[in-house]
Amino acid sequence: MPVAEPLLSRDVPLDTLNTLGLPGRAAGFVAIHAPAQLAAVRTWPEWQGRRLILGGGSNLVLASDYFAGLVLHICIAGRELCAEDADAWYVRAGSGENWHAFVDWTLAQGWPGLENLALIPGTVGAAPIQNIGAYGLEVAERLWQVEAIDLDDGATLRLDRAACDFAYRDSRFKQAAGRYLITAVTFRLPKRWQPVLGYAELARQLDPLDPATLNARAVADAVIAIRQRKLPDPAQLGNAGSFFKNPLVDATTFAILAAAYPALPHYPQADGTVKLAAGWLIEQCGWKGKNLGPAGVYEQQALVLVNRGGARGTDVLRLAGAIQDAVRARFGISLEPEPLIV
Ligand code: EPU
Repeated sequence: MPVAEPLLSRDVPLDTLNTLGLPGRAAGFVAIHAPAQLAAVRTWPEWQGRRLILGGGSNLVLASDYFAGLVLHICIAGRELCAEDADAWYVRAGSGENWHAFVDWTLAQGWPGLENLALIPGTVGAAPIQNIGAYGLEVAERLWQVEAIDLDDGATLRLDRAACDFAYRDSRFKQAAGRYLITAVTFRLPKRWQPVLGYAELARQLDPLDPATLNARAVADAVIAIRQRKLPDPAQLGNAGSFFKNPLVDATTFAILAAAYPALPHYPQADGTVKLAAGWLIEQCGWKGKNLGPAGVYEQQALVLVNRGGARGTDVLRLAGAIQDAVRARFGISLEPEPLIV
């Protein structure tokens, strides 16, 4: 089947295409429905300027009201069981598929494994970029292959998990921001299902827990209940999920902080570093539930910055900066923003 000619639009509003609900317009805009459409887009004069690869817009801060470049809106659809062996199902999805709808579909098909990542906003293609993680699972643990186009030379790539350089909220794709356009992702879902219940609140949510009847759908439902309790729905209150990464500190820094703050939540890592809870640090600084202009800190989870109505990118960044200053002054820790700032 021949691919449809990609269509260039000019001066396109981005307000509804970012979950923080920030105002913005793009000089150029094209929806990509098939990888083959890229070849034509690469010949456009607009290709030579700035580019932004846009998925669900749930990890994005439009710092300025005008993006003087070309937005590539990834709308590549499709999902299929592409292979199966004695041990696993291999499920492939187009990068433009909605993440939660995809997780929900895998569960309905009887292929468990992604249930801990239910209800995360965004697209399938964005999942490996920041290695989405929640409630004891990172997507890297279920990832089999990423298909991408290297925008530097137009080459089509198939990368296995090791080639993706996954780390906490990090990957090869995030490191080389804008270079790789992910077109499809394949997940390996083991047939011997083992629930991931290491996250204490998840285990509590499933209490009383009967291993005989526990299934992936019940885990997904529990994850959804926790998320709805703690995280704002972007459709109701603009936000981009966790605004900062949880900081990693060395053992010495941790020992000093823990002596001063015995209640400090902490998660020892395999490499000897210790992950701290940015939400806790922010709450200690008194920012939870507070506003700075039209941007605010969510009442139930201090790691989430929200648009109280009418905020612009500069308002959100001003609030983020004030929080970073406060945490640095009190704890000596620099918080790193998690979303892409454009
Ligand atoms: N905490 C506070 N105050 C707060 C928020 C958290 O004291 O306002 C404390 C909690 O009591 C807990 C600790 O901080 O002891 C950790 O909190 P929580 O379990 O809520 O998770 P998180 O570390 O704040 C991370 C992810 C979330 C993910 C949850 C659950 C990052 C940057 N965030 O948050 O991911 O849903 O764990 O696994 O790693 C996202 O990335 O957008 C996101 C929501």
